[in-house]
Amino acid sequence: MYYMASTELGDRLLSSLAGEYGTPLYVYDGKMIAERYDAFYSAFSGRFANVRICYALKANTSLAVCSLLRDLGAGADVVSAGELKTALAAGFSPEDIIYTSNSKSDSDLALAVDAGVIINVDSAGELESLGKIAAGRKKTARISFRVNPGVNPKTHPKIATGLAESKFGLHIEGGLALAAYRKAARMKHIAVIGVQAHIGSQIQDAGNFVDSARRLFDFALELKKIGIALDFIDFGGGLGISYQGAKSLQPEELAKALEPVIRDGFKRLGYRPALVFEPGRYIVAESGILLTRVNSVKKTPYKNFINVDSGFNTLMRPAMYDAYHRVRIVGRKGSSETYDIAGNVCETGDILARDRMLPKARKGDIIAILDTGAYGMSMTSSYNSQTLPAEVLVRGKRADLIRQRGEQDDLYWRQKIPEDLS
Ligand SMILES: Cc1ncc(COP(=O)(O)O)c(C=O)c1O
Repeated sequence: MYYMASTELGDRLLSSLAGEYGTPLYVYDGKMIAERYDAFYSAFSGRFANVRICYALKANTSLAVCSLLRDLGAGADVVSAGELKTALAAGFSPEDIIYTSNSKSDSDLALAVDAGVIINVDSAGELESLGKIAAGRKKTARISFRVNPGVNPKTHPKIATGLAESKFGLHIEGGLALAAYRKAARMKHIAVIGVQAHIGSQIQDAGNFVDSARRLFDFALELKKIGIALDFIDFGGGLGISYQGAKSLQPEELAKALEPVIRDGFKRLGYRPALVFEPGRYIVAESGILLTRVNSVKKTPYKNFINVDSGFNTLMRPAMYDAYHRVRIVGRKGSSETYDIAGNVCETGDILARDRMLPKARKGDIIAILDTGAYGMSMTSSYNSQTLPAEVLVRGKRADLIRQRGEQDDLYWRQKIPEDLS
């Protein structure tokens, strides 16, 4: 459908979309996704020749969003066989897909070898399995290793991945990563082409990225000494946004901070590997708004609750990471009461926002939960037998339904009641 007004997710558009498609509803601003992609890409490509942005699908795996990013020129960073297939379904070329996971099954590896994507190997055991699988198929697997640089990104502990104690990657420390490269270089069906590190998510301090980049270049130099040259160095994702709406670390600032380390790294190496980045949240988070409708307003002696028609099954981040999301009531101004936005999941912890000053809320109001384009829809579940929300992608005056609302039958899909119980 098409709109005449050039709203960019303004309240008129939001309330009309909620009316047309119902709630809960995720709405994305395609223009903003494109702007964020361009800002990230141009910050680095303005400084360096060979730059690749591999969008991290985990942030938002919706096919239309992925296709939009593919159209803009992005590659894909995937973390499961399912995401790998999703990236292919969204039209990414296999050579533009990098597959990272600390735990891949033999069938995951076989899929990746057959598809011809870059496999980011996480352990010596995985390398061994991959070698056998590639040999069995008479193919060459193109790989990088995810290394653990031992950097503390000072973010929420659940999304810090570069710590020395984390489950991810081969430690540079103790020579583990170097030994794996040495071994891989001798394997007939393995082609070593890169190195990758991802230290965590929602990072606001450029210094963390600088530390990690320095270690990656130091490590690439060690590889050079044993005769291994890399096609690419992949710095992972992790650039944060401000969920409070304040200024946050921008790609331009990040690129500026990384520039001396990269230039120095190139000099030390004597060659220039391609630079790969895997942003997810930065690209899509701020483009998304979750619309949810007020079922009732409840006053207790302690708190005022706005009970809405979504919960942590629809937006997991507040319950999972104590995440803060700005909220507003669509089409209403002012702030007269303090409320908690209470989800509809039968759990005490299902509070989507706490202690927010809002206009006096009424049944039927639409609440907009901001910055939910990343790790919103991709983390939904059907807990409490709730159906999944619908999604709309707005591009300029155009708004397309990109995912139909889930239905009750979806919840029974592939279930079977044994005959004697039916
Ligand atoms: C391997 C990998 N790459 C990229 C990302 C994207 O991170 P972000 O969404 O913070 O940019 C993640 C997320 O944690 C990840 O695990």
